[in-house]
Amino acid sequence: MDTDRSNDSRGPTPELRIDAERFQKDFEELAAIGATRDSGVDRPALSEPHLEARKWFLAKAKQVGLEARIDAAGNHIAIARTGPEPQPRSLLLGSHLDSVPQGGRYDGALGVSAGLEVLRVITEENIALPFDVELYDFTDEEGRFVGLMGSQALAGLLTRDQLQTPGQDLGIFHEALDRSGMDVSRILEAARDPGSLAGYLELHIEQGLRLVEAEADLGIVTSIVGIRSFRLHFIGRADHAGTTPLDKRFDAGLGAAAFNLAAHQHVGRNHPGCVVTVGNMEFSPGAFNVVPKGVDVALEFRAETEEELDALESEILSLAAEQAQVFSLALEIDRLERAASVVMDPGFQKAAAHAGGALGLKSLPLSSGAGHDAQSLAQACPAGMIFIPSQGGFSHSARESSEWTHCVNGANALLHTVLALAEDADREKREIR
Ligand code: GLV
Ligand code: MN
Ligand code: MN
Repeated sequence: MDTDRSNDSRGPTPELRIDAERFQKDFEELAAIGATRDSGVDRPALSEPHLEARKWFLAKAKQVGLEARIDAAGNHIAIARTGPEPQPRSLLLGSHLDSVPQGGRYDGALGVSAGLEVLRVITEENIALPFDVELYDFTDEEGRFVGLMGSQALAGLLTRDQLQTPGQDLGIFHEALDRSGMDVSRILEAARDPGSLAGYLELHIEQGLRLVEAEADLGIVTSIVGIRSFRLHFIGRADHAGTTPLDKRFDAGLGAAAFNLAAHQHVGRNHPGCVVTVGNMEFSPGAFNVVPKGVDVALEFRAETEEELDALESEILSLAAEQAQVFSLALEIDRLERAASVVMDPGFQKAAAHAGGALGLKSLPLSSGAGHDAQSLAQACPAGMIFIPSQGGFSHSARESSEWTHCVNGANALLHTVLALAEDADREKREIR
């Protein structure tokens, strides 16, 4: 690390650790916002509890002496300046404070609270780095409206089309944006010049069982799964549920259910390692005594490569058409989202593994079956992710939990990966000179 920032700035600091008590206090304050009775959190993007958590984040950042700002995509940002002037490049840390409905307290919030602690340590210890360090709390990672909206906007990937086809009613989306002080016509302005980014690093819970099974402390993420989502509309005819014989019905519910089962079996048999999920079905008119006229199906599937995603897309949509035909229904398809499968930067993987090793932690390289903001960032700059073990592998539910020791290990690994990346950047600079 450069030590020419000022006479009292710190150089290499292998013994440095985050303040575990302070980190835990922050984490628990956050977990109390939107807390559910079963110890989870309910903070869907741009809901009141989510906005309250974001307010907490900005206030905390300012209170500990960091710069803070909000960009056009609503991303909340805390900045640690590491030199006398703003540096030309920043290393970004990040994750998200929104949750799935009735979600857990670790998904996203761990990365943000650990990032805050890392920025605080860097500032307090006056550590000179070859880049500023910025912490992002990204907007709508979980896709209440547009999945990975904030990180896609930053990476210059978000399109006006995506903003026109949110996963919810457009009116509800616009109302939520208004409530949050955001202007839909300006969201794309959050794009950053890739030249200003030294990279992106995210700490997260694994949300699976591989680390627990391998008795490892850290996961060094090698790749992130690609995700595509669609809304399918099966359309039949509403009829009296008591007087319409079974063979005279055009029951949209049957087509949707048969499709769900067929897709599940098809992917299980033909695409090992891939997953397909129908996460919601909305029946209309939706009454005990009316044969359903319409069913809107929320469909997503995931695979490691774009080729597999293409194959899944054509096969699953054909199955939907087949089942619509079997039950004499019409079918309409809206394409919603597409998150590319990405590979994490080898240099970042190496830096994280090195940091883990220096802390005496056992790490395991592994791919991520969950989507993350790192997926967007990887398309704009070198990106890396560090996982910690999830007890029982549970996630996206209140059962989500990680031992506090693992959270502290993760935060220390995040800190030391930042320091390792700084050393790499300094070395590169010297080699160029
Ligand atoms: C995000 O958590 C996702 O994988 O959907
Ligand atoms: Mn999640
Ligand atoms: Mn997450």
